[in-house]
Formats: sequence, structure tokens, C-alpha cells
Amino acid sequence: MKGRILEILKEADNTVSGETIGSRLGISRVSVFKHIQKLREYGYDIPSAPAGYRLLNEPDILFHWGFPGRETRIHYFRELGSTMDTARDLARNGCPGFTVVIAETQTRGRGRLKRIWHSDDGGLYFTMVIRPQIPLALCWQINFAASLTLVKILSTEYGIEARLKWPNDVLFKGKKIAGMLSEVEAEADALTYINVGLGVNVNNDVSPVEETAVSIKAILGKAVPRQRLLSAYLDAFEKRLDEGRLHETIPEWKRFSATLHRPVRIQTLQETVKGIAEDVDEDGALILRLKNGSKRRILYGDCFHR
Ligand code: BTN
Repeated sequence: MKGRILEILKEADNTVSGETIGSRLGISRVSVFKHIQKLREYGYDIPSAPAGYRLLNEPDILFHWGFPGRETRIHYFRELGSTMDTARDLARNGCPGFTVVIAETQTRGRGRLKRIWHSDDGGLYFTMVIRPQIPLALCWQINFAASLTLVKILSTEYGIEARLKWPNDVLFKGKKIAGMLSEVEAEADALTYINVGLGVNVNNDVSPVEETAVSIKAILGKAVPRQRLLSAYLDAFEKRLDEGRLHETIPEWKRFSATLHRPVRIQTLQETVKGIAEDVDEDGALILRLKNGSKRRILYGDCFHR
């Protein structure tokens, strides 16, 4: 209900009476007042005038009612260990596809290859539970689609020309804006779910130790509302999956790649390999041309541009 009240206030350029809001939503004026009071407690600036209410400002908090149409599938937390863990529990308990777990901060945020993902206030940390009807072998395309979607949103909505570093880092001028982690469960060859977690440096101050990271705020010189970014992202990503064009993902991903055709060093849990990044195949594996002329296919690892 709070989401719908906010929608009505946003639509109207002017003050809207409690009676009008109530009749549009089929609730009493008193009930409208109670919801408005609650919204004010959360930081919404909604002064009352004799003629009714007006929305002057809203906090940048990712409450479920900020995502009309998705409210029941958004799980918002002030703080979590990791959104990956909460999403895994929800997925195992049968939550619907495109359930999204969001945390303002994480105490045990994790990255790829067992790294820590610092999750301070102002960043965007979320995990989506995806239940695509595809064979397990193709699930990597979802990861590539997830990072590709973010690059496209950054360009269309914010004018930021970001690029992709294999496998799924989002970079701006060589510095990392976002990272992605995914976890899969399957039965036999059928995917039960794939949880895709994204950490995006939005309005958080990236620590000076992380000199290879950058935030959207630092790029644009101003903070941006995370709710708008996340809404645009979820809409675009869900549409992309619904359209069933997953097979188009890798070719499109390559057009935004910062990795292809350059010398790279790949660190896996077992070894380091150097070569020229020649291609990415349909499974998302990186094809390296080694110094001795041979080719090497790498499925998982950390990539450093040299
Ligand atoms: C990486 O680049 O190493 C991947 C980083 C992924 C971080 C996100 S933040 C939301 C989700 N929860 C986590 O604990 N990790 C992912």
C-alpha cells in the first residue's frame, strides 16, 4: 500500500487529499494517514497542508515498496552476513523466480575466488534467485547476461561507458565499478536455481586501499538514487531473460569487452597462465593464445589486464 500511495503522490505535481488517495486505493482517510506517518518515520518528507499531502523528498533506501509490481519478491535488510546466503535459503525453501535479496551493508560480503567484498553504506548489494528453464551447461550465459545488462544500463541511464573484464567485472577506465558472483544448484542436468549476486559501487566511498575500484558517485561527481538504478536493472535483466535470447549474450558481451585481444594474466586457484585473450566461447570460457602459439581454454579464474 505504501508503494501505491507514493506512486499517487509522485504522479501528482501538487498536493493530494487523503480522501482522494483513500478512494483511489479503496481505504479510509485514517488508514492513508497511518501509512503516511510510517513513511515519514522512514525519512520520507511528506508535509501535510489543509488540502492534503505532498511528497517533497524520499530517502535512498531500498524498501520493497519502492519496486512497484515486485514488492512480494523483494527482501530488504538493513544488514546481512551475505545476500548470497539469505538468497540460497530462500531458494532452497522454494521462493519464486526473480526473488531479490538486498542489504544496505554486509558483514561477510564475499567475492569470487574466496575474496572479501567490502560492503559499506551507499553501495548496492543484492542477489537475484533465477529459475531459468535451461540445462546446467548453459547457466554461465546468465552470468554474462547479468554483467552485460549492467553495462548497458550504465550507458543508457547514466552516460557511463563501462566495459567488461572477463568473466564478469564491470570496469570504467580500467577501474572496477561492479563485481558479480553466482551460485548454482542442480538436480541431474536440470538447473534448480542460479543465484546471481551483484555488488555495485554506487555512492559508497571506495577504500583508498582499493585503488583499482571506482564508484558511480566519483565518476559523475554526484550521488545517484540507488532505487532508480536497481529498478532499471531488474526490469532490463528480467526482460532479457523472459525474451529467451540467451544465445545472443556472448556475442553481445564481446562487443563491450575490455579483455579481448589484449595480453592478460589469468590466476586460477591452482596456477597462473599468461597469453593473449583471443576469444570467449559459447560456454563463457576464455580462449588464450599462449607464447608458444598453442591455445588454452580457461573456464574459471581471475583475469588481470597486462
Ligand atoms: C567479485 O567481483 O569478486 C564478485 C563480488 C560480488 C559481490 C556481491 S555483493 C552482493 C552479493 N553478496 C555477496 O556476498 N557477494 C555478492
